[in-house]
Parts: sequence; structure tokens; C-alpha cells
Amino acid sequence: MTDTEFIAYAESVCFSRPWTAGDIAACADSPDGVCAVDEGVGYAFGRISFDEAELYRIAVLPDKRGRGAGSALLARFIQECTERGIVRIFLEVRSKNVPAAALYEKHGFKLISVRQGYYGDDDALIYECSINNG
Ligand SMILES: CC(C)(COP(=O)(O)OP(=O)(O)OC[C@H]1O[C@@H](n2cnc3c(N)ncnc32)[C@H](O)[C@@H]1OP(=O)(O)O)[C@@H](O)C(=O)NCCC(=O)NCCS
Repeated sequence: MTDTEFIAYAESVCFSRPWTAGDIAACADSPDGVCAVDEGVGYAFGRISFDEAELYRIAVLPDKRGRGAGSALLARFIQECTERGIVRIFLEVRSKNVPAAALYEKHGFKLISVRQGYYGDDDALIYECSINNG
């Protein structure tokens, strides 16, 4: 199974609106893509634009959660961004997604904005992580 195939499978398990394999490959395989995969467990991917990056998705299969895998994947994503000269990472998450928000805050992300009603039934929280790349 390729990384893209695993991510597409995990997307279908973890999200009600999964990214397609084509969408995932267009991001993860592009020169601007940042992707960390722990096959059979989980993944994180996003995209770089100039000196900033956005984390699009991070997920761990339900039966693998709560054992540090999400934390390890986010650390790998941040490390790759750091090595590629990124100075800040942004992400957006549903306000009701308590596990994800706690994971981001544990890794130094700060809440910078709230988009009220962005998801219709939920607000979007915008987080930023500054990286000391000086
Ligand atoms: C968010 C997610 C990736 C966390 O993965 P995980 O492997 O379970 O996380 P870890 O075991 O590495 O936990 C790391 C930290 O996340 C937070 N966390 C994880 N699960 C949590 C829960 N159920 N409640 C509260 N905080 C939680 C904690 O801060 C935890 O640190 P701690 O163990 O020191 O308390 C996982 O819950 C998931 O895949 N969710 C569905 C997909 C999703 O919503 N992704 C985010 C939006 S793209």
C-alpha cells in the first residue's frame, strides 16, 4: 500500500468528508507538500507557501489513538517544516474537536482567531505555531 492509499483509507475511516486519493496525492506528492505517515497508524499532511505552512489534516486510526501516535506525527510535521525554513504554521479546527485542540496546544500552537459559525453547526478555531528559525 502506498502512503497515498493508506491516507485515503484512513481519511474514509476518520472523517465524514474524506479527501480523495487524487486530492491527497496532489498535496502530499507536490514539492510544497509536507507529509508524515506512520502506515497502519496515522498521518499528517499540509502545504508550504513561502515561509509559512498550513497543516491540513492529522489523524490516527480509532483503535490506535491515545498512545502517543498523533503527538509523534505532529512532531514530525513540525520538524520537517523547521528543516525547510518555515517560521510559522497555521491550522484550522472545529471548536468541538477537543482532542485535536489539546494536541495542538501541547505542541505550542496558540489560538489566534475564531470564525463564528464557519462550519454551520460549529465555529472554526485558527491556531498558529511560531518556529524560531532565526
Ligand atoms: C487528534 C488525534 C490525531 C490525536 O491522536 P492520538 O494518537 O490519540 O493522540 P496522542 O495519544 O498522541 O495524544 C497527544 C495529546 O493529544 C491530546 N489528546 C488526545 N486524545 C485526547 C482526548 N480524547 N481528549 C483530550 N485530549 C486528547 C492530549 O493533549 C494528548 O496529550 P497527553 O497524552 O499528554 O494528554 C486523534 O484523536 C484523531 O485522529 N482524531 C480524528 C481526526 C481529527 O479530528 N483530526 C484533527 C482535525 S484534521
